[in-house]
Amino acid sequence: MEQSILDEIEARTSARLDIIVLHSQKGGPGKTTLACNIAHELAKRGNKTVLIDLDIAQPAIQYIFHIPDEDIKFTINDILLGKTKVKEEVLIETKNSNLFLMVAKENVEYGEGLLSLIEGIQEFSFFALHEMTKFLLRLGFRYVIYDCAPGYRMESVNAAAIADARVFVVRPSTFSFEGAKMMLNDIYKKLDIRSLNFFIFNQLPPELKDDNKKLLEEWRDEIIDMYLPEKISFLDFLPLSLDIMELGIKGEYIFPESDNLYTKLTKIVDTITENIDRMKKMKVEK
Ligand SMILES: Nc1ncnc2c1ncn2[C@@H]1O[C@H](COP(=O)(O)OP(=O)(O)O)[C@@H](O)[C@H]1O
Ligand SMILES: [Mg+2]
Repeated sequence: MEQSILDEIEARTSARLDIIVLHSQKGGPGKTTLACNIAHELAKRGNKTVLIDLDIAQPAIQYIFHIPDEDIKFTINDILLGKTKVKEEVLIETKNSNLFLMVAKENVEYGEGLLSLIEGIQEFSFFALHEMTKFLLRLGFRYVIYDCAPGYRMESVNAAAIADARVFVVRPSTFSFEGAKMMLNDIYKKLDIRSLNFFIFNQLPPELKDDNKKLLEEWRDEIIDMYLPEKISFLDFLPLSLDIMELGIKGEYIFPESDNLYTKLTKIVDTITENIDRMKKMKVEK
């Protein structure tokens, strides 16, 4: 066989797409913030990456990346509803040539209202997400990051089910912690075969009182104890950063390299990617 054909076969069979899903039980712990920063960092490292907004009711990615409406031909809504097959026109370019977006829209053009839109999406999402994986693999993507809607929404759970790595985001509050435990028990423990679970506490008071610090460490250990040790990894305690809040006012979500949160983020990305690499290597060896 000709070398070019052999090269192509080799490239295809070794092609790999890793799926990372950001999820939480409650709204607001920082899924979108982390999804954007993880995707941005992976792209910066030279990986062809797509960041997908799966939060149909409260989409954010379009606004964070300042994408004008006229640049959007199709949204993730269209795909999740089966209104269109997944195709290249759904991908939106960014300033970073390795980073692409798929955005969601909360305004409904189907004349049926948001609730029925959500119903429709729930039914079709598992199939649509599988098609998405095949499509992105064909286009040579290396990472896909799903920024999910919180809670038990079907498309979020489906994204979690097909993920290589799930990052569960928790705020430092009793409610957020109890909700996280419930969801990890109900869903994530059942999904942990041949995929990885991570969790992270975000938005900690920068100057944490000693007794609260101890409590958060107890919560961390309690979550780890719910699993076999190799089935869940704690990523970090991230502080609430006033600088990041200031930037957020202007719609700027990407951590500047000078910020302490950026240093932490690079380690988080290292941990997630290295663990996925290790897991997939083990799968090949088996
Ligand atoms: N570590 C942090 N420091 C400061 N602000 C943060 C931090 N994490 C998240 N935020 C802010 O909190 C708000 C909610 O975060 P977001 O990522 O939209 O949460 P989610 O997607 O889980 O609903 C946003 O305004 C975001 O800028
Ligand atoms: Mg969000």
